[in-house]
Amino acid sequence: MITYNPKFSIGDNLENIKAALTGLPIDAAIIENSLNYEFSDTIIGINHQKIDIGLAIANMMNVPVVNLQTVKEIGLEKAVEQKAEYLKWHLDYYGEYSGKRNYGQEAMLTIGNGYFGLRGAYVESTANKDNYPGMYVAGVYNQLTTNINGRDVVNEDLVNLPNAQYISFGVDHQQPFTIKKEDIQDIYRSLNLKTGVLTTTLHIQLSTGHILEVRATKVANMTNWHRYSIKYELKPINFSGSLQLYSEIDGSVINGNVDRYKDFNQKHIDIVGMSAHDNQISLSGQTKTSKVDFVINSKLTSQTVDVQKLIDTTTENQMIRQSLSINVEPGQSYEFEKCVTIFTSQNSDDNLETAAQNELNDSSLEDTLADSKKFWGNVWNKSDIQIQNDITSQKLTRVNIYHMLVTSAALASGKLDSSVGARGLHGEAYRGHIFWDVTFDLPFYAIHYPAIAKQCLLYRYNRIGEARKYATSEDKQGAMYPWQSGMYGDEQSQFVHLNPVSGEWDPDNSRLQRHVSLSVAYDVINYVHITGDHDFMQKYGLEMLLSICKFWVSMADYDKSADRYDIRHVMGPDEFHEEYPNADDHGLTNNAYTNIMVSWLFDKVAGLVANQKAAVVDSANKKAGTDNELLDKMSDIAHKLRLDINEEGIIGQFSGYFNLSKLNFDSYRKKYGDISRIDRLLKGEGKSPDSYQVAKQADTLMAYYVLPFNEVQNVITRLGYELPANFFTTNLRFYLDRTTHGSTLSRIVYSVLDEMDGNMDQSWQLFSTALFSDYYDIQGGTTAEGIHLGVMGATLEIETKCYGGVRFDTDELSINPHLPSLWQKLSFKQTYQGINYKFEIAHHRLIITADKDTHVKVADKAYSISKNKPTEISYK
Ligand code: BGC
Repeated sequence: MITYNPKFSIGDNLENIKAALTGLPIDAAIIENSLNYEFSDTIIGINHQKIDIGLAIANMMNVPVVNLQTVKEIGLEKAVEQKAEYLKWHLDYYGEYSGKRNYGQEAMLTIGNGYFGLRGAYVESTANKDNYPGMYVAGVYNQLTTNINGRDVVNEDLVNLPNAQYISFGVDHQQPFTIKKEDIQDIYRSLNLKTGVLTTTLHIQLSTGHILEVRATKVANMTNWHRYSIKYELKPINFSGSLQLYSEIDGSVINGNVDRYKDFNQKHIDIVGMSAHDNQISLSGQTKTSKVDFVINSKLTSQTVDVQKLIDTTTENQMIRQSLSINVEPGQSYEFEKCVTIFTSQNSDDNLETAAQNELNDSSLEDTLADSKKFWGNVWNKSDIQIQNDITSQKLTRVNIYHMLVTSAALASGKLDSSVGARGLHGEAYRGHIFWDVTFDLPFYAIHYPAIAKQCLLYRYNRIGEARKYATSEDKQGAMYPWQSGMYGDEQSQFVHLNPVSGEWDPDNSRLQRHVSLSVAYDVINYVHITGDHDFMQKYGLEMLLSICKFWVSMADYDKSADRYDIRHVMGPDEFHEEYPNADDHGLTNNAYTNIMVSWLFDKVAGLVANQKAAVVDSANKKAGTDNELLDKMSDIAHKLRLDINEEGIIGQFSGYFNLSKLNFDSYRKKYGDISRIDRLLKGEGKSPDSYQVAKQADTLMAYYVLPFNEVQNVITRLGYELPANFFTTNLRFYLDRTTHGSTLSRIVYSVLDEMDGNMDQSWQLFSTALFSDYYDIQGGTTAEGIHLGVMGATLEIETKCYGGVRFDTDELSINPHLPSLWQKLSFKQTYQGINYKFEIAHHRLIITADKDTHVKVADKAYSISKNKPTEISYK
């Protein structure tokens, strides 16, 4: 029995509980004296403080916490089972949070469907330092110019569109209720992952003494993706009299989610019209420079109140508002429904007003709820990953799957010319741009939702013209994709970047990460390999690959004296290194990851070309402006690119890497604590990370993450290099010691490399940190600006490909499981080249079911699998 000590703070009590429980073999905890709430039965109140102790302990100890009363009613076993099940399907937050913490929770509670993303802000909120009800539509960007230090800086942003979710209430014609700490007794927010429904319950006591319970239920329509709906329930508890309801569409919004962008122009839209009829309101506008028209409509209905009769509409500034007043009785519930539709000129050929109007007429909360339930039911049936004996991993895995689809579902229609941004449709960091991060997400999409993966690639194909122009502008050939890509596919990386440590604008050369084009090529090859969509390869893929190869051929400089090729002026994924110390020139020479991937790509593409019909190759050559001579050059370069390998067999991150100084990490840790963004700390001290052997994220060894081990080895051998027997371990330790994980994309890579190296403890530690990185916002505020989709997608791949050991990147399906010791069983379905598989993997035993006769290799032994017959295999 652990007693909560009211003399200590909540934090200290939790620490005590953790200390008392750590190491004990506990399966569940029981709370004796919890308060009586409808949303959670594990909240306790002590000294005017309340905490959902059940949620806190479940997070801390990874066990369900049940309420004594429930145990008495249904028995311990059932109570524990029910609670565990609940925790695995819900993302809940209890309490009132402010600042970045609340912004972060809003990002995590975003609903959406790949067409739009609507942050999980309170419907009563407007943008301020604590709340940010942003709404984005995939592919709707706008460029604005700002003069910074005498220089015109152009930025393209994913546009925050008008706030149409707003609903609030007022009592006795006082000001509408706003989210204010003083007025709120309790807040519980719960995202049901099974159904996609977000519910917020507020217990309110106004300074006037009025007490109310208010519940908002928000849901996105996953099929008719122009729609979302809100149910708003108001229950006066201790008063009767007059209550007002307000519903708005507010076009006065700006892009204000990211504090460091505040010096830039942020007003991206003009409002051109507002209108109302019956119970409906409409607001239309246009983005300032990209000239995307949009129409947002909403209607208010109620089963309990005659809305139509009471409603009054006003407009002010760029906002249109409906209001109505009713007489209420205590203890009675008053329910309203708000349906919203969003249309833009990007995806509608029809008259926007008419399309939006028709859509609104058809939409209802009931329909949207039913649709969402059905959609998510299918998602979990098809692409769930079930983990036995680890509630936290189970929940966060589902959270990640959820956000992968919130960001992309509508892309499957093939009607949206967009891809998935690094921060989802969940916030404004990186201005909603598309990066190489897609490489980390694409496997999940290709395996379960090939149409989404295809659209991500078509987004690149549709911008190949821009990529060609970009290459030409840098005196190169072929197609060079931009590091950051938005609406048009031109380079959207910034030239200057604000260092929050020094407050200075530092130059930003991150666009020299030309490896993004390697990612695009890799994604094309990976997608076709996983899905067997050869039509895509013939129609688009080959042209993209040849155009990208042509670019890399033009990047390789021949050094006759050494009979080697060098690739200069590039950066690897490690963004801390932009150039050589004190150099006049930007970029580095022979980034190992880049060179390995170029050699791999050239060889792979040569093989692909050899296997295509002559007519297909001719047509791709024609479109790419290439010929067979290119293949000869590719072959020569694939054999002769230079790597810098030292006597111990360490592969240098780039030529000259070993000349850089070593950094005393301990002293920096002592001085600053968190050194993950040591680049900023060093710059703040007037130093440059370019001078040191320090990396933001995995770089040199990245190839071992994306490719099978033997394929990387083939490249190294082909390049004429030999590495000592233990090179992998020594390289891994060398670079891990020098990496600060300043990007969330770092830990996922190293967790896979650690597993390959047999260091499962460290692999697990890195993986679990990556898995909860957005949930706990481990970078201290970045989740506020959008989730990190790359790491979310990667964790799903690690679970199945690395820990489940199911790989399809060799010739046939191979399975080499390495389950974390905590997990009893891992189950998931996957589709490879038209065969639907189901895997149930336990320690030393697995069951495979396939819907066609097929072959697999388990721990290097070949097995035949008969159609629809579960086959059990033991493995060591
Ligand atoms: C990482 C990049 C990544 C970008 C967007 C940066 O912090 O260094 O590798 O592409 O974030 O997620």
